[in-house]
Amino acid sequence: MSKTFYITTPIYYPSGNLHIGNSYTTVLCDAMARYKKGKGFDTRYLTGMDEHGQKIETVAKELGKTPQEHVNHIAEETKKLWDMLQIDYDDFIRTTEQRHKTVVKKIFEQLLDQDDIYLGEYEGYYCMPDESFFTETQLGEDKTCPDCGRPVELVKEESYFLRLSKYQDRLLKYIEEHPDFITPEQRKNEVVSFIKQGLNDISVSRKSFDWGVKVVSNPAHVVYVWIDALSNYITALGYNSQDESLYDKYWKGDEVVHVVGKDILRFHAIYWPIMLMALDVPISFKLYAHGWYMMKDGKMSKSKGQVIYPEQLIKRYGLDAVRYYLLRELPFSGDGVFTPEDFVNRVNYDLANDFGNLLNRTITMANKYFDSKLEKPQKQYTEFDELLEKEIENTVKSYDAHMDELQVSLALQDIFTLVSRSNKYIDETAPWVLAKDEDAKDELNSVLYHLIESLRIIGIMLSPIMLESSKQLFKQLNIPKSLEHFETRTYGYIEHIKVIDKPTPIFPRLEKKDEEAYIASLLNQREEEPMVEEDFATIEDFMKLDFVVGEIVESKVHPDADKLLVSQIDTGDKVRQIVSGISKYYKPEELVGKKVVVVKNLKPVKLRGVLSEGMVLAGKNNENLEILEVSSLNKGDKIS
Ligand code: MSP
Repeated sequence: MSKTFYITTPIYYPSGNLHIGNSYTTVLCDAMARYKKGKGFDTRYLTGMDEHGQKIETVAKELGKTPQEHVNHIAEETKKLWDMLQIDYDDFIRTTEQRHKTVVKKIFEQLLDQDDIYLGEYEGYYCMPDESFFTETQLGEDKTCPDCGRPVELVKEESYFLRLSKYQDRLLKYIEEHPDFITPEQRKNEVVSFIKQGLNDISVSRKSFDWGVKVVSNPAHVVYVWIDALSNYITALGYNSQDESLYDKYWKGDEVVHVVGKDILRFHAIYWPIMLMALDVPISFKLYAHGWYMMKDGKMSKSKGQVIYPEQLIKRYGLDAVRYYLLRELPFSGDGVFTPEDFVNRVNYDLANDFGNLLNRTITMANKYFDSKLEKPQKQYTEFDELLEKEIENTVKSYDAHMDELQVSLALQDIFTLVSRSNKYIDETAPWVLAKDEDAKDELNSVLYHLIESLRIIGIMLSPIMLESSKQLFKQLNIPKSLEHFETRTYGYIEHIKVIDKPTPIFPRLEKKDEEAYIASLLNQREEEPMVEEDFATIEDFMKLDFVVGEIVESKVHPDADKLLVSQIDTGDKVRQIVSGISKYYKPEELVGKKVVVVKNLKPVKLRGVLSEGMVLAGKNNENLEILEVSSLNKGDKIS
């Protein structure tokens, strides 16, 4: 019977769009589940939404929706995002589902009956965005949340408490006896020192709002959102329900991994194992706490215009570039910084130059020298053959070791070292020289065969991460299905092969400056918050925009971005400067004299350092972009 592997992401708060930071975890878990499946594990991948709590209640109210309407909408949007990222999850749990709520109620009552939960009075501070309690001494400057720096509220109310203190020693012992319970090591040390300072019992219910699971024996109380949320990892498996088969199979199975960000480590490394101890459920999981994707100026923040969403990147650069970047750039421990320059460099250097070229060169040479057909060689011809075969073997070993430890970034590094090594093998063996010598035909066949085997094995290792390009690679090399499997990652499986007649580049090189400017411009799109917007624009929304006729008096190419034009447009009241991404379609001089439609009252923004005070309307299809022009109206005339 196969071994089991159960992997989970945190369940996300539906308070806004998920950006590349939260998407990272979901892609990481997806790659891990696919890898384990490839290695023959019976896998289960859970993700979902954490839909209760005061924060959600407040956000929904601000949007004029009921909390349920709001979370339904965001759950759908989140699923769309996961579809776009091709996340192959097995279950999507929402804490508002009955299957979850029923069990949370039972868990709470059981802990209450056992006196692991007791009624008391809470007095302290609450950070609503983080849904966390703090004592006065823990607060930051000016009574702010020590984690996120936002203001906290003073809470004084009757509350239930969970006896963390009772389990403190047992938990410490558990961590000592299971050295790989929490990784990376540095995170484990943080947890241990936190516990050693002494654990206080925590408040596990709230009375002052409504949106949550009601305590059965005292419905004035709502179960604390973290108790509710953490339970998802077992409620989704049917724990304490009529059918516990998934729970028995996966929770009590071979490997269970919770992947979380560093900010929610404490909840998973302390509260969750203590809840499980109290419930007498085995602590079967390992915890992996990763760092954060930051922006150059600090944390990702919608309000500062410092946030980037995966949808926009996928649309322009394709799924694999995004999955590759996300998993490659964030180190195992520590944070990573998202920059447009790094994104473009990764695509250009790693994907287009190294990987794409290797595939392209290999197929082109196979086409040219052997009419696309190659045979397994009978012997090694040069020391380089042996070296490459060894390199393949070592890479597979190192890749597996890294993947098994969730070090996906290093596993990718292993693969790309083999890519470089294979490119170097071409230079060392110089096939173009061998091609001139009729007696070297077999040796030349051997060189190309080695390259194809290396690429095939690279393709298999990439397949959990780069879904489309690994398929493309197999297709262009014409690899039989049976040789796309993990157990065939050894040199020499192919006997004969006929690759396709002409390669198609899988990663075109990006225009560095243009694409950096494009990505940088995405960062400024503060107004774009599709997940919290209403489905319809009202007439009031429309009336807010001030459309007028403007006459273009001058236009120039943006000094730092070839794609952008900077135009001076007379809108009757004044000459305003507007930056537009239209240089592919219009020369600056063609624009002068045109009477166009301008949105006059958009909030001014700087695009690549140049102020833009409005927007020119244009229509677009796949081939063309055309500015909307008027003929008989004059500058300053109002359009509605
Ligand atoms: N709902 C809780 C989790 C409950 S799990 C039982 C929660 N939700 S969250 O939506 O705020 O965050 C979800 C995850 O996204 C966390 O693991 C968090 O660390 C991660 N990230 C949020 N911003 C991030 C980055 N900028 N970079 C990487 N991960 C980030 O917390």
